[in-house]
Amino acid sequence: MAAWGTAKIDAHSPGSFSGSMRDLLRPPVVQPRLIERGRQWLLAVAIAIAVLPGPAHAEETGDKATAKRCFKCHGEDGLDSSGGEPIIAGHPYPYIIGSLLLFQKEERISKAMKKATKDLSRDDMEAVARYYASLPSKPPAKPFDPVLAQRGAKFHARWCETCHQEGGRRFKMEDRAGPLLAGQTAEYLRAQFGLFMTLDREMPTDMGIAMLELRPGDANALVHYYVSNAAPR
Ligand code: HEC
Ligand code: HEC
Repeated sequence: MAAWGTAKIDAHSPGSFSGSMRDLLRPPVVQPRLIERGRQWLLAVAIAIAVLPGPAHAEETGDKATAKRCFKCHGEDGLDSSGGEPIIAGHPYPYIIGSLLLFQKEERISKAMKKATKDLSRDDMEAVARYYASLPSKPPAKPFDPVLAQRGAKFHARWCETCHQEGGRRFKMEDRAGPLLAGQTAEYLRAQFGLFMTLDREMPTDMGIAMLELRPGDANALVHYYVSNAAPR
């Protein structure tokens, strides 16, 4: 796979990126914008999460019926990635629902997910989030480069493990929900790195600060590391 500096970002990404994160966020022009956007974003998600109830029990059949509209892209098992979709099975309930809200409000940009959330009511969102969150997160093992994965592991331990814990198998941040990275597909992860680096996807300020440490090649190494962590949990 190409080194990050020359990597092509796929169709999910609006632009291509080359160079390091530090180049892009050179103060004073871009960094305050990043921090300001980070603040707005944190506030929006904090509000979204504060008003959401936790997952309720039962209603499995009803939830599954509502989630049928997602099957053609994410599969009944939440593991389908044949069209570049992320694996969503077993992701935390508040993260799924928070993401759906961001897509619906177009604060996170995806044509497919804008359409998929357009007519989704709050009840529907809760139902589909409950459904996918309840599924086992058993992503299929995919090929990876062990040398790159090891380099990614070192970078991750230093900069990313605070929130993306256990090598991305768990997520923990005060008052925040986040995704699982372990076993996620390389294609999707690459596209998201591209979006974060061009500031086309919001991230918490502390994650932006961690991303400033990325050098060319580090993002690619991280992708191999997260793919390598698909092992059973
Ligand atoms: C037409 C295909 C399509 C449909 C239908 C669809 N999705 Fe998606 N979904 C995608 C794609 C593509 C992405 C990746 C978006 C991006 O690049 O940011 C995505 C991303 C997501 C994410 C973000 C995951 C992450 O790790 O951040 C969640 C959650 C999600 N979808 C849930 C759903 C749910 C629930 C439904 C049903 C209501 C649904 N999707 C319907 C294609 C689809
Ligand atoms: C302060 C906590 C924090 C730190 C540190 C952090 N992240 Fe994140 N990360 C998050 C949150 C929160 C999200 C979800 C953003 C959203 O809701 O759209 C996220 C999302 C992601 C995603 C998108 C996954 C998906 O399913 O869409 C990737 C990839 C990622 N982080 C990688 C990293 C890497 C690599 C590092 C280290 C350089 C890092 N993060 C450091 C909090 C953090």
